[in-house]
Parts: sequence; structure tokens; C-alpha cells
Amino acid sequence: MTRRQYAFGRVGESEITRMKYMTTAEIREKYLRFFEEKGCKRLPSSSLIPDDPSLLLTSAGMVQFKPYFLHVKEFDPNYIGATTVQKCVRTNDIDIIGTTGRHLSFFEMLGNFSFGVYFKHEMCTWAYEFSTEVLELPKDRLYFTVFEDDDETIEIWKSLGVLESHITRLGEDDNFWRAGPTGPCGPCSEIYFDQGPDFEGDAPGDDGDRFLEFWNCVFTQFDGQEDGTLAPLPTKNIDTGMGLERMAAIMQGVQSNYETDVLRDLVAVGERLSGASYRGGTNATAGDGAQAKVDLSLRICADHSRSVAFMIADGILPSNEGRGYVLRRLLRRAVMHGHKLGIEGPFLGEYLAKIIELMGDVYPEIVDNRELVERIILSEEERFGRTLRTGQAYLVDELSALDGSVLPGQTAFTLHDTYGFPIELTEEICSESGVTVDHAGFDACMEEQRSRARAATKGDAEAAWSTYGGVHAETLKEVGANIFVGYEHTEAASSIVALIKDGARVARIEQGEEAELVLAKTPFYAEMGGEVGDTGTIEGAGGYAQVEDTKAPEAGLICHRVKVVKGSLSVGEDVAAAVDADRRARITRNHTATHILHAALRQVLGDHVNQAGSYVGPDRLRFDFAHFAPMTADEIKQVEDLANAVIMSATDMNIYETSLDEARASGVTALFGEKYGDTVRVVEAGGFSRELCGGCHVRNTAEIGLLKVVAETSVAANTRRIEAVTSYAALDYLNTRAAELDAAASALKSAPLDVAARVAANLATIKEFEAEARRAKQAAAESDASAYLDAMVDVGYPLIVIRVDGLDGGAMRNVWDVVRARMPKPGALVLGAVTDGKPIIMAAASDEAVAAGFNAKDVIKQASSHIKGGGGGKPTMAQAGGKDASGMDAALEAARAFLGA
Ligand code: SER
Repeated sequence: MTRRQYAFGRVGESEITRMKYMTTAEIREKYLRFFEEKGCKRLPSSSLIPDDPSLLLTSAGMVQFKPYFLHVKEFDPNYIGATTVQKCVRTNDIDIIGTTGRHLSFFEMLGNFSFGVYFKHEMCTWAYEFSTEVLELPKDRLYFTVFEDDDETIEIWKSLGVLESHITRLGEDDNFWRAGPTGPCGPCSEIYFDQGPDFEGDAPGDDGDRFLEFWNCVFTQFDGQEDGTLAPLPTKNIDTGMGLERMAAIMQGVQSNYETDVLRDLVAVGERLSGASYRGGTNATAGDGAQAKVDLSLRICADHSRSVAFMIADGILPSNEGRGYVLRRLLRRAVMHGHKLGIEGPFLGEYLAKIIELMGDVYPEIVDNRELVERIILSEEERFGRTLRTGQAYLVDELSALDGSVLPGQTAFTLHDTYGFPIELTEEICSESGVTVDHAGFDACMEEQRSRARAATKGDAEAAWSTYGGVHAETLKEVGANIFVGYEHTEAASSIVALIKDGARVARIEQGEEAELVLAKTPFYAEMGGEVGDTGTIEGAGGYAQVEDTKAPEAGLICHRVKVVKGSLSVGEDVAAAVDADRRARITRNHTATHILHAALRQVLGDHVNQAGSYVGPDRLRFDFAHFAPMTADEIKQVEDLANAVIMSATDMNIYETSLDEARASGVTALFGEKYGDTVRVVEAGGFSRELCGGCHVRNTAEIGLLKVVAETSVAANTRRIEAVTSYAALDYLNTRAAELDAAASALKSAPLDVAARVAANLATIKEFEAEARRAKQAAAESDASAYLDAMVDVGYPLIVIRVDGLDGGAMRNVWDVVRARMPKPGALVLGAVTDGKPIIMAAASDEAVAAGFNAKDVIKQASSHIKGGGGGKPTMAQAGGKDASGMDAALEAARAFLGA
């Protein structure tokens, strides 16, 4: 790469400081190595899908370490802590992104974490050492903030040589860090870099870009409770985060994140596709000029494309809720800005190619899932292209019907919500017609939607039994993580360590009562990774309970939902725990079959097939996966055949623990949302399927017996669902079908395997009969015609007036069709009938008869009074029904008299 070797920092006009130019990759590696050398364990970034129900997306490096801060899990004692580069997505201030040089929706955070081993003194010393000695940042341009009364940290910074004038005390808003409303948190101290007076801003912590915060050292000492109080954590911990892009901007002497090596290359993709040029600089998007708009759009595409690519690679698919909605919104915003730049057609794939080139070596998942990401992006861009057109048509209609010059907020909201129009786009289109948008009304609709979403999230969390900080977290802290012995055993001798009834701890439960029961060790599997929880019994000396379900509301705490059937159970009591082994066996067969099915789908359909959700129960398995079209019958058969070949190869399963890196190197399929921890459990079915999984599996594939796909359907855009059964359920499924077939065969008096041919033959026979019946009806009508013709008179045209009881309106019209062709010249017909006790009269005529004076309507009028009826029609065809069948002869007589017959 031919890049400048030195960058010039910008401080005042008189002072130009020489800084060593460093690429993003160099900074990343130097940081990780620095902390590795201090004794931290280098771990990979965790997934963007956090293993934590209270968070939507992974937004900080500490997220994967929550259990260690809480000490529900202990960190590897061979190290003083951990160091990572974490991919993060933050979208709380999405509207700001692109308008400043320092906000990004996707960023990389370098971090180091201590769980009670090192603390403030070491942390501050190392942060200063890394900043001034490794990065060689000029000391006089570093500024520090500390939490209000944290004199200790001030003293530490001073002892390192920092001048008091470079240290500021700030309040809770700036210097107390939390990941969410609850969980590990603490006061923090931040390091700022003075970018110089070319940038706006007066002091660290203000809104300007001059003092750029690049490093946050959090002294994680508290566990935020749901009631807002802070409970002390068992140890004093460290959670630090250094924004990689910000540091790269500093080291490369550029004025914003977007001009650093990685992001500038992505901005260049937009330039190449659109032909536009990026101006850049600290005020790139200042002012209203066309160039500012170009810069804004180029920045948004460069930033959002990274979020989009990494989110999909981690298994998030576009949808209208939760993470899927965040993804869709980012993707659409990028597409809108691409279109604003004049790029035509789908283009995000071009960004993806660049992202893979720039970042694929650090984040292998983006390379592994390239095809999936490409296809999802493309199909979403195409889909949005269509919505965009319908949305534009809707807006044009609304504008033309608009009374006044303000578009209602509700309309702008519909455009946003239904058509995915960002409000700025609506405003832009409106302004071309001199219309403004009721922004306050729009905001009110948005707020309403947000509170609905908040309510929904809360419901989900409650449904998951608990979140951090509740009675389960308390219990976990007190009794420690349970030992799970269920991989090897379905029975165990254990003791009750806790009972939770109606959200509170109790000492004893009696017959008829329901509660959550915690054992010291348990063979019961807690619902996870799609596999349902075990059921069974727990029996003590004085009673026993039925286990109705098993879940882990806190990672490490296995709770059995029990109902006492007899006697009572108490905390401290020794018990015998027994899983319903037959049900468990069915579950394990379905679980292993799910892995085999997954691998078979990848072989048959391609590597883009990735798991999007699963259910593994005793009755059946359900597997959702990314794919773009319904599977053909042939593809389903190939998948089934392949899976059954593996099953019948009677291969021993190989299940072992290893490091994530080794697992990945061996080509393992990592499940989405799986926490990439230090050790992972690998489940192998021969050389065919290899996945990370914590679930229960068979010992040998032959135990599965047989796999049968029972349904293949669509669950969402680009997501298919396969449902399948195995072993006894497959046998039941096939037997039920065979019994139906036998019943059909005996009804058809054929052999079962001849049923299809017999049904086809019978259908052909039925068709023949139908045709014959039609022909017979026609012949009957024709033979009756001669009787009608006998009644024909000539009144200047041939006329038949006759009573034909038993015919309905349709049959009467058929008579007309037959008779008219047999008349010597075009004539007219009047029929009267009493059918099912109801009188009905019809008159019909040829045009010639009408020309000669016949009017069907008038005839009906004359006749229908005799049957107490009414009706209508036209001169060539009229009909009437009546109430008095006894007047039918008189009615026909009246018609004859009227027509002069
Ligand atoms: N958790 C802190 C942050 O995200 C430091 O890592 O800023």
C-alpha cells in the first residue's frame, strides 16, 4: 500500500505535531498484542446477536463478559483478564450518523476486561502507556475526564504526569457507563484527543468534534437493579473500550472517521458507482449545498453497508420487528442515499465486496457467509425498489388530494412505516411541491409506535421467565451455577438448593403447589438452542413432584417447573431426579436429525442455507433457514435421501469441547446467536455434519431410525421452514398414511399400489358419464320440441303458448333454444309452469317477432296478474314468478288473448 508514512496532526497554526501514521490493522494488532503481553487472553469478537435478552444488539465489548462481571461464571485463572476487538452496532442516534465525523452505526471497539484481578491503577497506567508510548500520541494533546468525586483516579492520572488543567470532572451523564437499564456498570474515566482549533468545540464532553473521546475506562463495580439501585458486584472490575475508527482518524491525521483507510475506501465505492466526489473534512456535511448532500449520502452508504453486511453474516434477516427491523431500516436508508447519489439498480453488493476485502481476515464470518449476505442484500434491495415505487405513487396521490400546504404527520408516518420512506425523503419530495410535513405529528406517531415496541419487548423478556437482576439472578448468586449431568445420565441423586414460588423464595412446597425447583446437580436439560426442556419426576423422602418443563432463566441456573403430586418437598432435602427418558430419547433423535438435515440442505441447496431458528421437540423438528425459493419435490427428496443415508450409515457421534478458533479452523458450522465463548462444544455426525451446540444428541446416528420431511413452507421473506419427523413419529406418520391408503384402496376395490391408477380411471369414467348425461338432456329437450311445435299457431309470426309444469327458468330458456331453431321462420314462445308449487311464466321472442309487434315484457305484464306475480325483462325475453299457482291456465289464456292467438 502506498500510503503516507507520517500524518500531521492539526493543533493551532503555529504547532504541527508529527505523528506516526498507522493503518487500522496496525492499531488493532498493536492494541491486542499490548494487552496480551500484560497477561490478558485474546478472544474473538462475539456475535452481533447478544446472548442476553435485555439487549437487542451487541453494542459494546463488555456484552459477552457480563457473566464474568457478575461472577456467575469464572474467567480462565491463567490470565489476568480478556482483550478483544468487538464488532458493535449502535443505532440509538441513527439520524446523526453521517452528519458528524465521529458517529457510526457499525464500529470496532478495542477492549480489555478484568474480573477482579487488575483495577484502576493498572488500567490508567496501561492506557497512558499505550497512548503515549505505543501510539506516541503527544501528551499535551491528551485530556481526561473523571466521574464527579473520583479523586483516586485524578491522583493516578496526575502521578503519570498529566497536568491538572487537562483533567475535568463530569457528572453521571458523561462519566457513568451502563450497557442498559440493568446489569454491570460503573463510573468511568475517558481520554480525549485535542484535534485543534480547526474543529468546533470548547471542552471535553461537549458536542463538538475538537475534543475527540477515544478511550473509555469503566470501573465496573455495580450491578444495576431493576428498581434503579446499585448493588455492589463481588469484585472491582475493568471494562475499557477504545474506538478503533476514531483512533485511526487520529493516527492518520484525518478529520473524520470517514477519511481513515477502511472507511475512505468504502466512500470511494460510492464515488465510483455514482461518479460523485467526496469533499470530506470536519464540516463535510455542513451547509445546505449540493456538495454537503453528496458527502452525507456517501458517508451513510459507507457506514450502513458495514452494519448491514455484518448483521446478516451473524444471522439477522430483514423483518418488521426487533433486530430485523433495525437491519431493514439501515439497508433502506443506505439504498435511499445511493439513489440520491444517482446510483441506479441494486448496488450494496459492491460495498460488500470491498468490506470482505478490507475486513475478511479479522472477521471470517463475513467471508464464510458471503453468498447469504449477497443474496439477502440483493433481494431486499429489489423488494425495496418496488415499495419505493408504490410509496411514491401513494405520496403523489396524497399530495394531489391535499387541502393546504402541510402534509399530515400520519401520512408521513404511513410512508415511513408501510413504504419504508425515511422522513427526509418524504420532506424532500413534498418540498418540490411547496408542501411541508407536520413533523410534530410524525414524531407523535413514531413515539406511539416506540412505546408499543417497548411494551412488546418487555413482554418477551417476561415470557423468558426473568432478566438479569430478578429473583433468579439472586438465586444464582447465592447457590452458584448448577451442574448439568444430563449429557450422560437421565437420572441423578441430588438435593434441592432453592425453591421459587410466585417470584419469591420459599423453604417448602406442598401437594398441589406449583413452583420452580433448583437442584445442586440435574440431569434435566433446560430449553435452549431450539431444544425443548426436559420433563420427568423429582422424588424425596416425603413426596414427589412432576417436572412439567425446564428452563434456564439465567445462564447457569437450571429451574425445573414442578407440581407436587404427593407429600411435600423442602430445600436441603436429598432427592432422586429422573428425566422422562423415552421423551428425551425422541428429543435427542430429533436434535441430531436437525444437524444432519442442516448439512444435507447445504449440500443440496448451497452454502447460503443458514439456520434462522429451530424447534426440537419429542414430536417433531422444525428448521427455519435462509433460502430464496420454495424447494422442489426433487430437492426435498434429495435432502431426505442424503439425511437417511447418513442415519443408516450407523455412525458414532463425536462430541467434544475445544476452542472456538480450532473449531472454526476445522470448518464447524457456528449457530447464529451462539455466544462465541472461550470453550465451545462441537457435535459431529461423522464427517457429514459438524456444529457448535450445547444440546442433547444420540450416540449413534442409527438411533434416529428414519427422517421424513412432512412440510416445506415459507415463514418470511427469504426464509423457508422444513418440518420433519424421525424414528417412531416417522413410523406413525407413514403408518397413518398407509392406513389411509388401505382404506381408499378397499373403498375403490383395488390394491393399495393401484389406487392412483384406479382413481385416474374412475375420474375418466365420471367425465364420460357427465358428457353422456349432457347429451341425454339435450336429446330429451329435442324430442320434447316436437310436442311444443304441435301447439304452434301463426299470428303473423310463429307463436307457441303452452304449459310445461316441472320446468324451472333455466330449463325454459333451454326449450326456447331448441324450439326457435325448429320454427319455420323466427317466432315467439310463451311458457307457463308450476314447478315445486310455484307458478312461473317466461316469454321469449326473435327480433323479427318483436318487429312484428311481440313484446315479451308486455306479455308477462298481462299474464302475471293472474298468478299474483311480478317480473320483468326486455322485449325479447321476460320472466315472472307468482304466488298463486291456480291462476296459471288463466294467465296463459290472457297471454293468448293479448297476442291474438
Ligand atoms: N463499555 C464501555 C463502552 O462501550 C467501555 O468498553 O464505552
